[in-house]
Amino acid sequence: MDALQLKGKTALVVGIANRWSIAYAIAQQLQAHGVRLAVTYQNERVAAEVHKLTAAWPNTLLLPCELTDEAQIDAVFARLRDEFGQLNHLIHCVAFAERADLQGAFRAISRQGFRTALDISVYSLLALAQRAVSLMPPQQSSILTLTYMASERVVPNYNVMALAKAALENAVRYLANDLGPLGIRVNAISAGPVRTASARAIAGFTEMLKQHAEKAPLRRNITAEEVGKAALYLCSDLASGVTGTVHFVDAGYHILGV
Ligand SMILES: NC(=O)c1ccc[n+]([C@@H]2O[C@H](COP(=O)([O-])OP(=O)(O)OC[C@H]3O[C@@H](n4cnc5c(N)ncnc54)[C@H](O)[C@@H]3O)[C@@H](O)[C@H]2O)c1
Repeated sequence: MDALQLKGKTALVVGIANRWSIAYAIAQQLQAHGVRLAVTYQNERVAAEVHKLTAAWPNTLLLPCELTDEAQIDAVFARLRDEFGQLNHLIHCVAFAERADLQGAFRAISRQGFRTALDISVYSLLALAQRAVSLMPPQQSSILTLTYMASERVVPNYNVMALAKAALENAVRYLANDLGPLGIRVNAISAGPVRTASARAIAGFTEMLKQHAEKAPLRRNITAEEVGKAALYLCSDLASGVTGTVHFVDAGYHILGV
């Protein structure tokens, strides 16, 4: 019996920039388990790389999507409607903040920096979900986003992104309640630190990786592949009763006091 029930399903994966992107690890898992993918890339700067990474995947739809541009988001869903007809899974792996707001004093966050970080890292989930819903069949659909523990504990330098992740996790709960009656599940994975382009923007990230590996119950860092496997579970029929949850993939770090 196929417990995952993912073969022949469709997913939109947002957030692949390069081979280190967590979104790429999730897309690899979904693809390997028979999901037909649509993948967006932010701009021409990353287009060639994303094209290369997805080239071997059959019937994959590759589309540009700058998430601050409503017209580009509309265009993605128009293509999905035409080419896929329906969408089972939406995978949101996007975050952005100005470098100045990922270091130094928390109180120094600028109004514009706050707007940018919350708009791209949180509102983008709503912008995508609003459009996805009409394409999602009940009982077989889900939405997944990526968060980090700085949403509820103080992590040096996370600053504006900690605020964004707190808002994102609350959006997961509210969306889960909103979309539950439609049979659509909404969850987040809270990943431990993984060396990606976004992570490197955070001051002191390398030191964080080291400390995490020393202290986490599993005494190591996690891999993007492990996030991909948890995402596979959350999208699959194995998680049919799971919604509104923040699922940690962090080698157990979140349980520690000191
Ligand atoms: N790497 C980690 O340690 C870690 C830990 C926990 C959670 N996360 C979360 O995982 C998610 C994916 O990040 P990642 O670490 O794979 O880094 P990444 O840099 O590979 O991915 C971030 C993606 O966001 C996209 N993006 C940013 N601004 C955009 C915009 N305006 N329009 C469209 N796309 C935009 C980028 O193009 C990129 O593809 C993020 O939400 C991040 O906060 C990462």
